[in-house]
Amino acid sequence: RIYLNFISDERWKYVVDGLLVTLKVTFFAVLIGIVLGFLVAAIRSTSEQTGKLKILDFFCRIYLTVIRGTPVVVQLLIIYFVIFGSADINKVVVAVMAFGLNSGAYVAEIFRSGIMSIDKGQFEAGRSLGFTYGQTMVHIIMPQAFKNVLPALGNEFIVLLKETSVAGYIALQDLTKSGDIIRSRTYDAFMPLLAVAAIYLIMVVVFTKLVNMLERRLRSSDH
Ligand code: ARG
Repeated sequence: RIYLNFISDERWKYVVDGLLVTLKVTFFAVLIGIVLGFLVAAIRSTSEQTGKLKILDFFCRIYLTVIRGTPVVVQLLIIYFVIFGSADINKVVVAVMAFGLNSGAYVAEIFRSGIMSIDKGQFEAGRSLGFTYGQTMVHIIMPQAFKNVLPALGNEFIVLLKETSVAGYIALQDLTKSGDIIRSRTYDAFMPLLAVAAIYLIMVVVFTKLVNMLERRLRSSDH
């Protein structure tokens, strides 16, 4: 009886709260992913090209293999239930850690492919101008590489935004979980779930537009 009193104002409040959780988790996870991905890509590229940092490179490979070889939901469950032992820890923090750690592995490969996409003549040109390895990377290779990986990075953001919908597995009330709670309490599946889908869709479409705009802007300096 009481569940049927879940009036529509309250439903919207649920959805908005859930949306904020989804955005928060995605935003911070993307930041962690980019920092982590950059570090791993830098270590791997340096090791590949100079033969240094062999041990770090080894650990990076293990990280990439394990993270990309197991589902992100399982990683999320392990971090929450095994590492923190379902302790009294903020679930948003757990989700940010899980998705950030996960995204870092994919971002690392995006960055690495971006670095490899630059012709090695660019590298040699930098070195012959007297730049060190690091200076060549920072001033010549990376600005060009960034332009090449921008579409892939935008895609990673979209994947992550949608992927956070599995956060309900640790009972974190994100957008998806909110819609599902409304479904179970009102016995109406149609409206809440379609509303949730529509909200994800709008966010993805808007974000895709923004990335396309930025991409065109960066490309315009090509000619
Ligand atoms: N659903 C896939 C998995 O469970 C993808 C994970 C996230 N992918 C990503 N690019 N961040 O492993």
